[in-house]
Amino acid sequence: MLDLSTSFAGVRLRNPIVVAAAGITGTIDRLKRAEDAGAGAVSMKSLFENPIPRVGDPTPHMLVIRRRLGSLSSETLYSYEQCSAFDEERYAEELHRAKQALSIPVFANVDCQTPEAWVRYCRLMEEAGADGVEVKSCPHGEHLLTGTELQEVVRLLKGTVNIPVIPKLPPQLTSPYQTARELERVGADALVLFNRFTGLDIDVHTESPVMHGGVAGHGGPWSLHYVLRWVVQTAPALSIPVCASGGVGGGEDVIKCLLAGASAVQIATLVILEGYGVIGRVLKEASEWMEARGYHRLEQFRGRAAARVLNLAEICRERRLVASISAERCSGCGRCGEICIYRAVTEEAGGRFRVGEGCVGCGLCVHVCPETAIGMVPAR
Ligand SMILES: Cc1cc2nc3c(=O)[nH]c(=O)nc-3n(C[C@H](O)[C@H](O)[C@H](O)COP(=O)(O)O)c2cc1C
Repeated sequence: MLDLSTSFAGVRLRNPIVVAAAGITGTIDRLKRAEDAGAGAVSMKSLFENPIPRVGDPTPHMLVIRRRLGSLSSETLYSYEQCSAFDEERYAEELHRAKQALSIPVFANVDCQTPEAWVRYCRLMEEAGADGVEVKSCPHGEHLLTGTELQEVVRLLKGTVNIPVIPKLPPQLTSPYQTARELERVGADALVLFNRFTGLDIDVHTESPVMHGGVAGHGGPWSLHYVLRWVVQTAPALSIPVCASGGVGGGEDVIKCLLAGASAVQIATLVILEGYGVIGRVLKEASEWMEARGYHRLEQFRGRAAARVLNLAEICRERRLVASISAERCSGCGRCGEICIYRAVTEEAGGRFRVGEGCVGCGLCVHVCPETAIGMVPAR
């Protein structure tokens, strides 16, 4: 019997999937849909002190941007969906009603500009029954909270409320690791790594920003690597739990976050693009992976990959592998030779290519060959 339960910020979750703060968690109806679809917890759409974004979102405010870079391509959900339209009283009321209607934990998510509002809003969240409050730094704002400012907010709130205080870090910090350590020191109960990156795209025809005319949040499957990189460094070094957030596209990505040391995993973009029903698929995929490996509980493998990340001195720099081109499969297109900065690829009689002594084993030609004719073999 599989047990997917986990503990996050002192709260028990039936599974590690937290539907992240976004429009998909903006109302009690949507929170309930997340619970019914199987989520372990929900984080409500942000409550802002700033009244300007509460007025509503521009139309449209979501755009899928597809880009190419040589043979690579990426997709981004570019969006400018700001905060909850509710004021603090109405938000607290919605939260209170959600707590009555749902059996899974409900986290509030607050973003203020003044200490007075941080204190007042978070007290309201506590009174409304929130299982914790995420301290958010809006990625689209004109002023992004620095690590030091986040610490000040956490210190203030820890002297004010008794519910868990959970900073949600912006990704654009000089050292997320250092900031995470400092946040733990000032009393944070858990961390979310990360909110989205802030970004911009420009229409070269109008020579202006696309969509609504300003900067926006951007994220996609590519975001996961950044998240894993910092979860792996912070989670083992902290005694408070870390929730991974960014680019999770399925059960395997959830497992990667857990292997990196996360205690919970937030998902927004996937639910936005596929609907709440995708949560069931994610849980099924993660469960199948555990079953195939004979795991019954998350603790049996959580953080396992973190322990295997090599440091600078440990990484092997011997030339163990080199590229080798299959003469049968090579079509003679020469792509490998064009990109080889080591001039290790030479053309043979008959228009085929071969790898010579200069190969350092970087592995890039394996991925650019359109015929999949190149593999890595032990260096002699
Ligand atoms: C449309 C949209 C709206 C979002 N709104 C909020 C928000 O109000 N508050 C917040 O803390 N994060 C917000 N986020 C960030 C998500 O909660 C999440 O941390 C981030 O998108 C990374 O996860 P993902 O890659 O699964 O989307 C939003 C993300 C999206 C895509």
